[in-house]
Amino acid sequence: MSAVLDVRGVVKAFGENVVLRGVDLAVDEHRVVALIGGSGSGKSTLLRCASLLEVVDDGQVLLDGEDITDPRVDADAVRRRLGVVFQAYNLFPHLSVLDNVTLAPVRVHGRSRSEAREEALGLLERIGLADKSGEYPDRLSGGQQQRVAIARALAVRPRVLLLDEITSALDPELVGEVLRLVREVAEQGMTIVMATHEMGFAKQVADTVCFLDRGVVLESGPPDQVLGDPVEARTRQFLSRIIDAGRL
Ligand SMILES: Nc1ncnc2c1ncn2[C@@H]1O[C@H](COP(=O)(O)OP(=O)(O)O)[C@@H](O)[C@H]1O
Ligand SMILES: [Mg+2]
Repeated sequence: MSAVLDVRGVVKAFGENVVLRGVDLAVDEHRVVALIGGSGSGKSTLLRCASLLEVVDDGQVLLDGEDITDPRVDADAVRRRLGVVFQAYNLFPHLSVLDNVTLAPVRVHGRSRSEAREEALGLLERIGLADKSGEYPDRLSGGQQQRVAIARALAVRPRVLLLDEITSALDPELVGEVLRLVREVAEQGMTIVMATHEMGFAKQVADTVCFLDRGVVLESGPPDQVLGDPVEARTRQFLSRIIDAGRL
């Protein structure tokens, strides 16, 4: 099986600060990869490199076998094949929920307004927010906003969904509804890479957990192994801090 997303030896520095020192990460179709690691370990940088929001210094990122880090590649065209959701402030505040979801399909993908609208309403129905389609984002809870952000990312029918700590900015009682949606999307076969601190969720939903440490993927494997019986001392150390924080 060939990977949908294949990160090969990616190096990324900000000035003197070498954040990624040769990261390898292959994500097969329909698989869910949870990216874990301490704050500042480079999770966001890796997702930003994979979505071409940062330029890699070395290495490659392949999307369906195509080297998207090749400078000759049309980055905008590549981004159209990706769905990206960040921690917060994802939605366009001046657009209704429905317009947030239809904007990219219409403007970027050239779909007809009516087709995009129909599909968007279907997505909103699926996430239980069809009744909010006419609202502006600031009328929604943080959890509802993140669910709409996921719907908006799905609206472009991405090859892979890249999620960067999408529940970190939420009040604890709103985390569950967002994770439930991610689980549903995963069960329907979407390929997902998610940076997360939600270890319980990673354990239940991820096929693979990757521990990013000091600029490399130090350890990766099935959640039970990496989270339950890690090989590396630094993985154990990280997990014990998480346990102390009550998150595992
Ligand atoms: N745009 C940037 N400019 C300079 N340094 C950055 C930038 N983005 C990230 N960094 C640095 O890269 C390191 C990794 O950050 P990040 O990828 O956000 O880690 P994580 O998401 O795992 O918390 C940090 O030291 C951070 O300060
Ligand atoms: Mg981050």
